[in-house]
This record gives sequence, structure tokens and C-alpha cells, in this order.
Amino acid sequence: MVSYQRDSASSLSDKDFDFICQFAYQQAGIVLNENKREMVYRRFARIIRERKLNSFAQYCQLLRDNPEQEQRYFINAITTNLTSFFREQHHFDYLAEYEIPKILVENAKKKRIRVWSSASSTGEEPYSIAITFVETMKDKINHWDVKILATDIDCNVLNTGKEGIYEYRKIAGLPENYIKKYFVKLAQSKEDKYQVHKNIQKLITFKQLNLLHQWPMKGPFDIIFCRNVIIYFDKKTQQELFERYNKMLKPGGLLILGHSENLGSYQQYFDNVGRTIFRKPLIGQATNVTYS
Ligand SMILES: C[S@@+](CC[C@H](N)C(=O)[O-])C[C@H]1O[C@@H](n2cnc3c(N)ncnc32)[C@H](O)[C@@H]1O
Repeated sequence: MVSYQRDSASSLSDKDFDFICQFAYQQAGIVLNENKREMVYRRFARIIRERKLNSFAQYCQLLRDNPEQEQRYFINAITTNLTSFFREQHHFDYLAEYEIPKILVENAKKKRIRVWSSASSTGEEPYSIAITFVETMKDKINHWDVKILATDIDCNVLNTGKEGIYEYRKIAGLPENYIKKYFVKLAQSKEDKYQVHKNIQKLITFKQLNLLHQWPMKGPFDIIFCRNVIIYFDKKTQQELFERYNKMLKPGGLLILGHSENLGSYQQYFDNVGRTIFRKPLIGQATNVTYS
């Protein structure tokens, strides 16, 4: 095994690496550079082994010959899916303290709320959103039409999200009463596994969506989460996406980014109301409010 890996490492030529970078950019907008060479090697050496291919060159030829058939495996291998329940807790605190009470007043007539988790990975993010809504709205949630759309490009992580089954270590950091109320221990599992309660699951729809492609939904959304995904894209793709997110939000709606992300020059079209929390202004341009 070790010698196979050494052979494969030497066979990841500059030409094959450049081709893989180009394919990742075309298919998913993901920008890879020299720093990612080791990661590319590790992830694709595994695929090459699984597919019983001999070299990176052979794998690149397969991508050239059958791009449509191969793109799913390729994308699942290239994406970084790191996430966790209540990651960046301050976003959920903002929803509970300000945004949900505000929406309950503003949407009181229609009793309808729409949220989009646009790079939902294995589901921890949309489930954290759903739990925050249930905790904040309490019984009211049964009388409102609350829907959370969870999308990702990677179909493996979406399947995990749909199932909603997690090892105990993934939920161990949650408050004890959350585990009791919102998770069900699976009796037949070897390790401790927990499934998200169906009352939480029913609020969420998981769908595959490449952010670079057309978006089939109409919106408007009250809140959009776009966390820890735009860092993989170049500036041009980021700015195009921000414009599309802006159109998908209702006036006054929220766009939430990840901890190391910012809107760049698109900031002028939003007000910065919290740490990486941006509000689409009600009319016209933003007043350039900046959170500090
Ligand atoms: C690091 S995870 C972020 C998960 C979650 N939003 C969070 O912050 O915890 C990034 C996710 O973006 C997804 N992704 C990457 N490129 C994408 C694209 N072009 N369209 C949709 N999702 C994409 C990956 O599959 C991955 O699950």
C-alpha cells in the first residue's frame, strides 16, 4: 500500500495536477492551487485505487472521456465538508434574539418563513437552524409554515443529511436537554448513534444544487446561510454569487457568511448588522452600516 502511494505520488505530474485543477474549477467553481497538491494527491490516489486504475494520467483520461459520468465522484472527492452542530454559535444567537422575533412580527399575516442553507454539507447546519426556530417559536411553530431548504453539490453529504443519523461524538457538545428533545438514540447501532427527531427533520428539504448552476427555486428567502463555501471560489465567482443571493432575499432579509468570509466590494448592497451577518436593505442601497 505504502509503495503504491509512493508510486502514485510520483505519477501526479504537473500536467495531471493542472488538469484536475481546471476540472474542479469548471465543475464546481473550486479554486485549487499548489498548496492543495498534497490534498489532491491523497483524495484521488484513493479513487484511483478504488477504481482499479494504474495512474493519475489514466484517471485524467477518464475525466476527459466521460466528464458527465465522472463528475459526481470527482466532486464528492474534491469538496471539503467540515461542519458541526451550532458552528459559529453567534449566528444562532442572533437568530434567536433578534431575527426570529422580528420575522414573527413582520410575517404575522402570512405566517410563512423560508430559510436556505446553501452549502449544507452533512446537515448539521440546517438542523441547527431548525432547532433554533423550534426553541424560539415554541408551540407557535405548529401554526406557521416554516421551511428550510438545504442544498449542497455533494450527493454523499446530502444523503447523510437526509438520514440525520450522527455518532454521539458529533452531538456530545450540545446541551443535554437538546439531545433529549431533538435526538433519538438508535437501539440497534454498535457505536452510539442518534437520529434527529422527525419533528425537526420535517422542517427541512435536502436537494442537490451546484451554486454555479441555475437555481430552480423562486424565493424570496427570509434568511440565507452561505457559510464556509465561498472561500473555495475566486473573487469573480464570489461577486456573481452575492448578486444572486441578494436577488433571492426578501428586502430586509439576512445573508450569513462564514467566519473568514466577507462580501468584498458587494458590501455596498448590504448592511453589516453582526459578525458576518448582512442585511439586504428595505429599499434602494445599503446605508453602509458596519458592525464592529
Ligand atoms: C466546509 S463545508 C461548509 C458547511 C456548512 N455551511 C458550515 O459552515 O458548517 C462546504 C460545503 O460546500 C459545498 N460546496 C462546494 N462547492 C459547491 C458548489 N459549487 N455548489 C454547492 N455546494 C458546494 C461542499 O460540498 C461542502 O459540503
